[in-house]
Amino acid sequence: MTNRHQINVDIELLKKYDQPGPRYTSYPTAPYFHEGVDEQVYRKHIEKDNQLKKDEPISLYFHLPFCDTLCYFCGCNMMVTHNRQKIEKYINYLIKEMALLRPLIGEKRKVMQLHWGGGTPTYLSPEQIRRLGNAIREFFDFEDEAEVSVEIDPRELTREHMEALKEVGFNRCSMGVQDFNPQVQKTVNRIQPEDITRQTVDWARELGLQSINIDLMYGLPFQTVDMFEKTLDIILDIDPDRLAVFNYAHLPSMIKHQRLIKDEWLPKPEEKLQLLKLSIEKLTSSGYVYIGMDHFAKPDDELTLAMNEGTLYRNFQGYSTHAGLNLFAIGITSISMLSDLYVQNVKKLNPYYERLEKGQLPVFKGVELTEDDILRREVITELMCNFYLDKKKIEQKYNLIFDDYFADALEKLVPLQQDGLIELQENYLKVTTMGRLLIRNIAMQFDYYLAKKEGQKPQFSRTV
Ligand SMILES: C[S@@+](CC[C@H](N)C(=O)[O-])C[C@H]1O[C@@H](n2cnc3c(N)ncnc32)[C@H](O)[C@@H]1O
Ligand code: SF4
Repeated sequence: MTNRHQINVDIELLKKYDQPGPRYTSYPTAPYFHEGVDEQVYRKHIEKDNQLKKDEPISLYFHLPFCDTLCYFCGCNMMVTHNRQKIEKYINYLIKEMALLRPLIGEKRKVMQLHWGGGTPTYLSPEQIRRLGNAIREFFDFEDEAEVSVEIDPRELTREHMEALKEVGFNRCSMGVQDFNPQVQKTVNRIQPEDITRQTVDWARELGLQSINIDLMYGLPFQTVDMFEKTLDIILDIDPDRLAVFNYAHLPSMIKHQRLIKDEWLPKPEEKLQLLKLSIEKLTSSGYVYIGMDHFAKPDDELTLAMNEGTLYRNFQGYSTHAGLNLFAIGITSISMLSDLYVQNVKKLNPYYERLEKGQLPVFKGVELTEDDILRREVITELMCNFYLDKKKIEQKYNLIFDDYFADALEKLVPLQQDGLIELQENYLKVTTMGRLLIRNIAMQFDYYLAKKEGQKPQFSRTV
């Protein structure tokens, strides 16, 4: 079966362009955050944006880092605990942080997007979900059409959890699966039988949650093309609205517990590319649309519609249909984004609690964007989300001659054009179907910091 969304993957091109590169959830990227950006800078920017954006809606993120067990591959900001009091205490402090932040944000600004990420937000008990969910709604008013989403681990979830999520207004969810193969699951310490995942999806559907997403991973130990195809077959039968198929980032020198996964258990680079090829070809030939950066969605999903209309947007919460909202992030390690500022919260619990006890916002580093950063962020976002860049629009908005300002980038794009990844025209730049798979490589050509810092680059995961 073929359809118009089908993508055929050229492995040789993937090999040629496989190199470390940023994922551009922010620009400038996190390695350029520094401690010169503190609470005072954050407060100043919130005030500035209140004036600039007056009654505009906002986005909220809550980081819930706790998990029941450790998946050995995990690269998220998480910690295992079985101490319910510890979670209870953390929720108290999330509410404290919200209480400090709320009065700084324009009173009329409502929430258009709320996301709980982790760790595992559903490791909270149903009562804790209600307590935090209700507290958020006491502090903030929500837009009627707000996107309210949560990350779920099907393994500890009960129907009562799902009912509590629904009660406090969640209308979208995303759940981890990774791979259904028992040997892979055992090796990564994540035993998750198929029926648990099916049950979770059924509950979500019964309770009316939309846009159900499932996370898979390729490149895990002992994965083979034949076995991963079976996982994909089950997923196609479950029929989620969206799928993320992440490339396993194995960085044992930085993430200690990943040393429990031996290098020799991992698929070889060639096999890993075959796994990627299989995933893309099978999912796109089965009716999913490749949204970009590991993500797929049904043709009638709001993300696909937004991509078709050129209005897709991306930030730390992933893809969204709401461009450029101020994002206020609450909880350890989380990153907030204002019009021209990124700022990150402290990473450990104790300093987080200490700062809040003193009545301080718990931020510790960030970056203020220059005019050039703002321009390049828009170019990179347009390319990453909509695979198209209207040069004239950029010229008018920023009062510049595109081909002059970006002469270096355009020159570096020529080989990518010759390889059929991008079309360079007088008035626009268009990413081809194959170019979508290598979108980070295209975006990297517009990254001022990468160009400047040749030779002393920070460590990024590989682009394919
Ligand atoms: C916060 S978890 C999802 C919610 C929940 N904790 C769970 O695992 O079901 C986010 C997702 O990140 C992905 N992930 C975790 N570690 C990764 C790594 N080292 N490389 C690539 N993706 C990773 C997994 O697909 C995981 O489902
Ligand atoms: S993948 Fe999810 S459940 Fe597993 S350790 Fe990471 S955050 Fe926790």
